[in-house]
Amino acid sequence: MSITPLRPAAIAQHPRRLTAATLLHKKLDNQPISAITAYDYPSARLVDEACIDMVLVGDSLGMVVLGYENTLSVTMDEMLYHTRAVARGIRHAFLVADMPYGSYHTSLRDAVRNGLRFIQEAGAQAVKIEGGRVRAKLVRRLTEAEVPVVGHIGLTPQSLHSMGGYRVQGTSMAAYERLSADALALEDAGAIALVLEGIPRELAASITAHSSIPTIGIGAGPECDGQILVFHDLCNLTFSQPAKFSRQYADGAEFFGSALSRYRDDVAARRFPNDAESYHLPREVQAALEAAHPVVRKA
Ligand code: KIV
Repeated sequence: MSITPLRPAAIAQHPRRLTAATLLHKKLDNQPISAITAYDYPSARLVDEACIDMVLVGDSLGMVVLGYENTLSVTMDEMLYHTRAVARGIRHAFLVADMPYGSYHTSLRDAVRNGLRFIQEAGAQAVKIEGGRVRAKLVRRLTEAEVPVVGHIGLTPQSLHSMGGYRVQGTSMAAYERLSADALALEDAGAIALVLEGIPRELAASITAHSSIPTIGIGAGPECDGQILVFHDLCNLTFSQPAKFSRQYADGAEFFGSALSRYRDDVAARRFPNDAESYHLPREVQAALEAAHPVVRKA
């Protein structure tokens, strides 16, 4: 199998690897940060060649790649496996890996050990953890261990059972204040960026205005410093109803479905493979073979 190099245009335009500092500069320069999830080598190549700033190996892979019902079953082994695959396809984007449910909930020691594995074994540049003030101590410990942390507040899918379902967060005045305090606590603890998920636009705008680190929104309105979507939502590959906040830029289900149907029909009609898609014996071996074993060809 041959692996083609990255497109020269993309390399020329973005010669260097993005870092946490690049994302911060973008916030300070008021330049929107683009982010997307990726879970394997081909999606990483596509995302990187599209010059997206940040790639997240999200634990959403549990649903969109592994077919689980939610993110709670995703393991460290699965996250490391997919992060390694994505890392092999990335040259330019800032690479963040999600720490899965259970990997940072038992003790600070376990959490730091697991966080280090994403950097050391899988090639991530930062990890993402869900939760607000309750995670501040952990964010500090990971940061001290040279594991940069992206926080994630608002609708945090790993809190599915405590939230009682996937619901927009921060809609009451009290919740609004709690989330603002969470954002500040994570920033004080050393988080390099914050994902804001499923919160009212007004709250996201206020957190973004008051924080010195970039905010990356998903279902959090346009005032965030950046936006993130799940690759499979953007490409219509989830086989489910899209969320209100997501936008489909391509119809992958139709595109790949139609390619597969045409392939099936070509095989059924013996149109695939054709002669040009077949290997041939050298002419003299073919002649000798036909002399020795005449073959009756199918029409
Ligand atoms: O797992 C994920 O894909 C995420 C994004 C939705 C931010 O956490």
